[in-house]
Amino acid sequence: MKIAAASAFDKRKSADVLIVPFWEGAKSAFKENFSSVALEDLLDSGDFKGKLGEVAIFYAAKAKEPRCLLLGLGKKENVSSESLRKAFAAAIKWIREKKLKAVHLLFPDIEEEMAPSILESVLLSNYAFTSLKGESSDDKSPRLIETFLMFGISSQTASQIDHYQTIAESVSLVRDLVNGNADDVTPEMFAKEIPAMLGKKVKTVVFDRKDLEKEGMGLLLAVGQGARYEPCMIQASYRGNPQAKEHILLVGKGITYDTGGLCLKSADNMLTMKCDMAGAATMLAVVKVAAALGLKINVTALAPIAENAIGSKSFKQGDVYRSFSGKTVEILNTDAEGRLVLADAIAYGVKNLKPTLVIDAATLTGAIVVALGEEMSGLFSNDESAAKDLERASQRTGESLWRMPLYDYKDSLRSDIADLANMGGREAGSIKAALFLQEFTGGVPWAHIDMAGPAFLSKPKGYFPTKGTGWGVRLLVDFLEQRAK
Ligand code: BES
Ligand code: MG
Ligand code: ZN
Repeated sequence: MKIAAASAFDKRKSADVLIVPFWEGAKSAFKENFSSVALEDLLDSGDFKGKLGEVAIFYAAKAKEPRCLLLGLGKKENVSSESLRKAFAAAIKWIREKKLKAVHLLFPDIEEEMAPSILESVLLSNYAFTSLKGESSDDKSPRLIETFLMFGISSQTASQIDHYQTIAESVSLVRDLVNGNADDVTPEMFAKEIPAMLGKKVKTVVFDRKDLEKEGMGLLLAVGQGARYEPCMIQASYRGNPQAKEHILLVGKGITYDTGGLCLKSADNMLTMKCDMAGAATMLAVVKVAAALGLKINVTALAPIAENAIGSKSFKQGDVYRSFSGKTVEILNTDAEGRLVLADAIAYGVKNLKPTLVIDAATLTGAIVVALGEEMSGLFSNDESAAKDLERASQRTGESLWRMPLYDYKDSLRSDIADLANMGGREAGSIKAALFLQEFTGGVPWAHIDMAGPAFLSKPKGYFPTKGTGWGVRLLVDFLEQRAK
């Protein structure tokens, strides 16, 4: 999509639709001089109130835009970045359903600080995953907006278009990877194709199975041993501030498909399990964005990638495997595999990269979805400053986080025959998973994000599409931007 600032509203060319924003109960919300009889009539009718996300249309065949879309922004005193994102998501949804391609917007008169959220919403809402549709499908040509011109936008906001476009492109990359077939987005595909996708400023190292064996990453190898594709680990680094000591390690769960292994999932629970590499895709995308934006920060992503398959070579319930850290782990459930691959990657990163902060993101537990639902992730952290900054980033980006306790349930992870068990009973499942990970952080400040809910949605929600959402990219980029200051 071409999204740009435009001037000379009176001399504009034609387009399919003009978006005209309104505050609830007010006569307008835009800067440009615009009036029409049809508009006044519609407002006088009282049918359109300007409520947040409300849409009304009138048709004016002879106007430069044959459709005028009145968009409610809600009450002016309640405006926030997120309310603006929601409102614009509603407008874009309507426009895309009608397959319109060229859009004009009368940019609303709002505080400079909030204005970029409109760019974000438009960019994030204009996504379609069509590569698996058949040639003759109606939807093969995606219902996407092609040009989006904004009238009355400030030059300061306009100067940030590229910035938000860079972020949105990486969000789309994560969505595509999550939505892609698990037999296409395989560990081999990650190893072969991801490094080139991250850009020249990102240094990548790919650990293949032999490297993992040499390093002694027994948990990652165990999880991957049942699959047709060999496990691997991708390390992607960007050094934007070589003088600084601070180095943030981002670890993402990369299970390209989670059958549950020998502890096989039910059909219903397996249905969405192509999403289980969302953490890895997110962390790699964040490093890509950090490099593309030239953030003054040092950051490395580690993505342990494996398929948790069922077969004669699968790792076994009741067996004990040795982790990179040296701790041995008894497998009480082969479906608690995410924490295993993360444990090895976290321990490897802590030992070899000497990070000052570790953040991991993972579609780790069904329990967090039970606790927080589909729209929030759980945040676990032993570092107050990281937790506060992540919560602030969450507020700003609208990617919701809820802090969860690292309550001491460690006894439940005790094993009779190994150093640790990989699960500890049904209760407080997401806390116990976090405690398991903490065992491998070597005391380095750490935050864990359990994103099993929002990584993959059963139905679209505002500017998040159904299925792969790319949730977390914007959150973590915002966090890195704060840290870079
Ligand atoms: N990938 C799943 C968690 C998940 C569930 C992600 C729903 C997205 C949506 C994870 O590997 C898993 O299977 N966890 C088990 C752990 C249990 C066996 C201790 C779970 O949550 O049931
Ligand atoms: Mg599992
Ligand atoms: Zn999993």
